[in-house]
Amino acid sequence: MARRKYVVGNWKMNGVTASIADAQAIFAAATEHPGVDVALCPPFTLIGAMVAAAPGAAVGGQDCHSATAGAFTGSVAAPMLADAGATLVIVGHSERREGCGERDADVRAKAEAGLGAGLSVILCVGEPREVRESGGAIDYVLAQIAGSVPEDFDATRLAIAYEPIWAIGTGLVPTVGDVAAMHGAIRGALTARFGGKAEDMRLLYGGSVNGENAAELLDAGDVDGALVGGASLTAAKFVPIVAAAAALR
Ligand code: PGA
Repeated sequence: MARRKYVVGNWKMNGVTASIADAQAIFAAATEHPGVDVALCPPFTLIGAMVAAAPGAAVGGQDCHSATAGAFTGSVAAPMLADAGATLVIVGHSERREGCGERDADVRAKAEAGLGAGLSVILCVGEPREVRESGGAIDYVLAQIAGSVPEDFDATRLAIAYEPIWAIGTGLVPTVGDVAAMHGAIRGALTARFGGKAEDMRLLYGGSVNGENAAELLDAGDVDGALVGGASLTAAKFVPIVAAAAALR
């Protein structure tokens, strides 16, 4: 089965009620590109409003707790995301691994919680700059994959996002060759562990993707889409990335 292109916007801690209009513009424009799966992950506060404003659109959370309920002040459980109308969740973003101390085991538990709640999961991995410079990026990321990818899952509902930390929000991007080498290594590790179903898993690239570089990055070997931060907040910036993915089909 051919993997469909997947372009996901991560709004991070951006967006208020007025931003719903931007989401509507993005989802409306995305209907021009039916061959691409498009999703937006706004802050938790906007999920319900975005789902209501764009019926049928794929809206997701940026994190979830590994437990289904309980005394965890400030956290949101995966079944709550589903209840709010979300259909996906991002787990293991480097801003949470680094900023909130999440380890591979935590990320794996969150991925299992998301899958258990019926959500699709985007599981993020990626190396810091010093690891890239020392030549250890592939080993580092494959260790994250080994530690954070669950054992049992529906391959069409678990995507991996490779996001080199030094490329996030910086305007720096790896070479197309480095992206292809990393994605090939990730696919190889997943195939070694899970066999043929690894072929159904989508591998996204993330880190300073924009309308200018998307065509080249999305065309790299084993890249099935993009996880986009800064350039996902408006239709003017995000739709060209969706169009670039559509052109590659
Ligand atoms: P960026 O963020 O596109 O702003 O670099 C990507 C991400 O962190 O998902």
